[in-house]
Amino acid sequence: MVEFNLPANSQVKEGNSFKAGANAKKVRRFKIYRYDPDSGQNPRLDTFEIDLASCGPMVLDALIKIKNEIDSTLTFRRSCREGICGSCAMNIDGTNTLACLKPIEDIKGDVKIYPLPHMPVVKDLVPDLSVPYAQYASVEPWMQADTRPPPGAERKQSIAERDKLDGLWECILCFCCQTSCPSYWWNGDRYLGSAVLLQAYRWIADSRDEATGKRLDALEDPFKLYRCHTILNCTRTCPKGLNPGSAIADIKRLIAERAV
Ligand code: SF4
Ligand code: SF4
Ligand code: FES
Repeated sequence: MVEFNLPANSQVKEGNSFKAGANAKKVRRFKIYRYDPDSGQNPRLDTFEIDLASCGPMVLDALIKIKNEIDSTLTFRRSCREGICGSCAMNIDGTNTLACLKPIEDIKGDVKIYPLPHMPVVKDLVPDLSVPYAQYASVEPWMQADTRPPPGAERKQSIAERDKLDGLWECILCFCCQTSCPSYWWNGDRYLGSAVLLQAYRWIADSRDEATGKRLDALEDPFKLYRCHTILNCTRTCPKGLNPGSAIADIKRLIAERAV
């Protein structure tokens, strides 16, 4: 039977509240999603008051401060803290972005932080990315060529050929775009999603790669590629300023062109 309400055990409850110290000078409230699937408890929203006078400027700084000083069980991913590794992707103030690149000052009111949407949660702000990683592997993201490189030399590209990779190689696989896409929410088991398709196009666009036909054959599929309906949430969301919607359109164009 169709269920129109959320199951009772998935509803987010009001959680614990942690007040700032009496000497705090510049207090901001952070409301953070907490969930431990192994606990049998409902997800909850914990509230932490943070003194920004003793905190770094980015949302990731606040999360690290909370983990170090208030609640060591708060779980999130992070590594580089400079927008390179893609591991601190989460939903902040209603938008998927990187916590290390998001200034707290840019957010009005309480800072609300959730995991990337529509993914299973491993714990708190950590989504299970097994499916998108498997989808990434499925596009064989490495150079494939039968022709051997010139003896003792590397495969060369012209400046124009190399330019075609700009806007693609910078992708850090944070999956902010992928998890902002309604088509991926509803068909994530079969639609490859914007990040994976951008990565697929990165190899299609590479003049040194000789597997273009095979790559396009693999993508010419009603679900893998054509579930993209050009809604462009992906492009609006990318914290690196990339345009996965355009890369997907380029794949569709190449498939259409080879058919005529
Ligand atoms: S253009 Fe729209 S449907 Fe296509 S990947 Fe981006 S958000 Fe999803
Ligand atoms: S295209 Fe942008 S948002 Fe999508 S995975 Fe790459 S860096 Fe992240
Ligand atoms: S910590 Fe690496 S991108 Fe944010």
